[in-house]
Amino acid sequence: MSEAAAGILAEELNGNPSAVFALPTGSTPVGTYQALAKLNREGKVDFSLGNFFNVDEYVGLSRESEQGYYHFLYENLYQYVNVDLAKTHAPDGMALEPELAAVQYEEMIDGLGGLDVAFLGIGRNGHIGFNEPAASLHYSTYCVTLTKSTIEANARFFKSTEEVPKQALTIGIGTIMKAKKIIMVANGEDKADAICRLKEDTSLDTEFPSSLLRLHPDVTVVTTIK
Ligand code: GLP
Repeated sequence: MSEAAAGILAEELNGNPSAVFALPTGSTPVGTYQALAKLNREGKVDFSLGNFFNVDEYVGLSRESEQGYYHFLYENLYQYVNVDLAKTHAPDGMALEPELAAVQYEEMIDGLGGLDVAFLGIGRNGHIGFNEPAASLHYSTYCVTLTKSTIEANARFFKSTEEVPKQALTIGIGTIMKAKKIIMVANGEDKADAICRLKEDTSLDTEFPSSLLRLHPDVTVVTTIK
């Protein structure tokens, strides 16, 4: 799964060296990042001109924070590849006004012509980025209050569930849907329900945010789940 996803991402970057990518965190994409680092070491992909945006970031965590998502991408990818760190971005989790930081982040992505590639994981509840199930979804980057299910799922990265931030900044469903290409990775039993629902259920349901991906013309889901 990881090598297949890395191959697709590398092909995109090779086809458009200054492409704009959204990159996710989580356990699932770690292998993909390792495979990309290997391709970079072997001279098969060049990161130097690419633009990379975190899909999301916790409110209250800084770029240096160990549990922060920018830090995650630095630790798992950026430090191993020839990326220009000036072209790597994450929403400002420490902003005094998170809503303003969200608007600025969206403007930065728009300023580069929008996303060429949205690389995504999926939450157990079908969330993409941190676009949580809700009666309505947000179009642009926004500040979200995390659900209990997501807080519990992500508690493994913190000392306790109480330490998991209750809010995050995430690119919106519109930011994702405007991407020219969407690539999703998913593995593990805890994602089976979400992937089966994505595959079999044809409804568009804001309570299952990834179902909106059905409206996009170019989505690839790379998964180990049958
Ligand atoms: C977090 C992130 C998502 C990610 C999800 C799945 O909630 N905000 O972007 O897709 O976790 O993570 P994992 O791959 O660890 O299951």
